[in-house]
Amino acid sequence: MSEIYQDPAMPVENRVEDLLGRMTIAEKLGQLSQLFSGHKENPEDYIPQIAGGRVSSFIWGKADPALRNRLQRAAVESSRLGIPVIFGMDIIHGSRTTFPIAPAMAGAFEPELLERAQAVAAREARAEGLEWVFAPMCDLARDARWGRVAETCGEDPYLSCLCNAAQVKGFQGADASAPDRVAACLKHYVGYSAVAGGRDYNEVELTEWTLRNSHLPSFRAAVRAGALTVMSSFNAIGGVPAVANHHTLTEILRGDLGFEGFVVSDWNAVMEAVNWGYAKDAADAARLALAAGNDMEMLTSAYIDTLAAQVESGSFPLAVVEEAVRRVLRVKFQVGLFERPYVDEAAFDAAILRPDALALARECVAKSTVLVQNDGVLPLPKTGKKVALIGPFADDQREMVGCWSGRGQAADVVTLAATLRQRLSGLTVVKGCDTSLSAPTKTLQDGSVVPDPDAAPLDNSLDLEGAVRAAQSADVVVMAVGEPCGWTGESRNRAFLSLSGNQQALFDAVAATGKPIVTVVFCGRPLSSSSVFEKSAAVLYAWQPGVQAGPGLADLLLGDASPSARLSMSIPREVSQSPLYYNYPLTGRPNTSCYYLDLPAQGAKFWFGHGLTYSTFEYGPVTIIPAAGGKPAEAVATVTNTGERDAVETAQLYIRQLCCHEGGRPSQELRGFRRLALKPGESAEARFPLTGETLGYFTRSGQWQADPGDYHLWISPAAHVGEPVKYLHA
Ligand code: NOJ
Repeated sequence: MSEIYQDPAMPVENRVEDLLGRMTIAEKLGQLSQLFSGHKENPEDYIPQIAGGRVSSFIWGKADPALRNRLQRAAVESSRLGIPVIFGMDIIHGSRTTFPIAPAMAGAFEPELLERAQAVAAREARAEGLEWVFAPMCDLARDARWGRVAETCGEDPYLSCLCNAAQVKGFQGADASAPDRVAACLKHYVGYSAVAGGRDYNEVELTEWTLRNSHLPSFRAAVRAGALTVMSSFNAIGGVPAVANHHTLTEILRGDLGFEGFVVSDWNAVMEAVNWGYAKDAADAARLALAAGNDMEMLTSAYIDTLAAQVESGSFPLAVVEEAVRRVLRVKFQVGLFERPYVDEAAFDAAILRPDALALARECVAKSTVLVQNDGVLPLPKTGKKVALIGPFADDQREMVGCWSGRGQAADVVTLAATLRQRLSGLTVVKGCDTSLSAPTKTLQDGSVVPDPDAAPLDNSLDLEGAVRAAQSADVVVMAVGEPCGWTGESRNRAFLSLSGNQQALFDAVAATGKPIVTVVFCGRPLSSSSVFEKSAAVLYAWQPGVQAGPGLADLLLGDASPSARLSMSIPREVSQSPLYYNYPLTGRPNTSCYYLDLPAQGAKFWFGHGLTYSTFEYGPVTIIPAAGGKPAEAVATVTNTGERDAVETAQLYIRQLCCHEGGRPSQELRGFRRLALKPGESAEARFPLTGETLGYFTRSGQWQADPGDYHLWISPAAHVGEPVKYLHA
């Protein structure tokens, strides 16, 4: 007869309690421990630990369903209670099918697109035997120097809320136990992106006002979408490490946001509380972190090594351990691990890179690449023009995969060069230089090659002559330049937002030929090379586009699709403006808030929300339709396609509350958008309800509040564009 916890017909809570009641303290602490299977050359060396009930989860195993099943068998068949292990991995912007990175996808202004992409990622992940992915990243991008902006949904809280909630739905579906879904993990909780100077892992000072209104909303939205887990972050706020912060982990996350899943620390982060000078030793770190609300420990073993003794001596409450175990077990039941602990090894190959996944990846590239400027050179004619494709990103498969490759493989990628070779006759492709300079080496007397710190970095591949020759004999040049994906992501901060390596020299040499240039920028952050904007006839921001880079970009370049994406992050003129974001707070002297004496033009080069199509649009004035018959007031503007092509225009509603006694509100806040598919000459109304939901903010104690009073409203194609109308909210 099976026990209550083994009976799928029983409610999850009963199963959890039944199982918890059978566990020893060692088994309980085992459920709070996550290990990295790669720490042992042969992961099967972990089998005794698994069978002993001392491993709850593995992170970052190989994509090897058979190995994963062998490890799982030790848990299910050899451990005393048979509690399955949960396998997790960083599947961030796709698994084997890599999609464009998050700031690109957010720029589609179509959250359902993210939902669909993450559903594919979930399907591929579950097929290899993962039940848990460490995404979405709910951090807000405000400083382009910070390498991890490449993982965010950009700088705007409203857009981030929609995009992160959509990702949770994509990963988990309606039921995370389905054979093609996984548990999501919201990270990095919280304030991680507010690091001083954009330097990863650095100190964070964050007021309750900014925390509540800027950094928390997307976590809240993703919790409401049903996210099963959260990852606490590496940073400290005001000296208190996130992993040990009771206010954020318990009072806010569980109290205000209503989160019911479990919290895992980031990599080593429990023990890093000692490095922060906050905890004395492992025992202290374990006690502080678990009591604060951090349920599972990633990588380090402070919980498992020290908490049994602390519980036995009465210095740490058993009830706190048990509550954390309950949360972990609950999620294991919710993802269906007790019913289906093993993965179907034979089904794996057929589940990855399916045609529908690749078609979606291509659609995502076309919908997330931003046309930043265009003098009419785009779209390119399909015949009759000689095109030179120049730059190190033109044919580099690895670079397209992006900063978190997931299970992505370079060999799966179709590059821009590969696609254009098929679609254009007379195409010339020249690499021109490497993506970055390589560290120079020297050869010692014994023949060994070692780094040479005294020599300047090298680029032996620089081929200005070849690039110039190709440009001269072409009618139009497409330049594929940017920054390597290895310069983006965790700890990849940059002091300059320039093209990397010798690419600026390459660009300048090609630009000097006078040929029209279409620049396609591959990046994980906004890059601000002013000459690229000045000397390019058109600029497309492709970000890190993933496995279908070539087909998706060619669809845009050759006009089979019209660009529709917008910038999810403002592009600064100079790195020194960082942090720069459109929704900056007002100051006592508002016109000076972006001001630098030695910068000829102020503000962003392009603000958040900016993006062109192959058509043109006119916005009529904003009119307010007063509330009537129980319906709220509405802001309405007519948008007309005044150009010659079908296109999708994204009309955006921005608001500003003119006076707020709780604290000054930002210069502008996005509070709605409409994607309008319009034919030439066609008009549509962009309508937005003016409710408390549209106009409000979070008080310092976390309540949503919409004050009566005066507001400014804009309906416009981007932030800081157009004239506002005044609206009195009664
Ligand atoms: C550290 C990163 O901060 C986090 O994003 C990631 O999920 C974990 N490592 C696990 O790889």
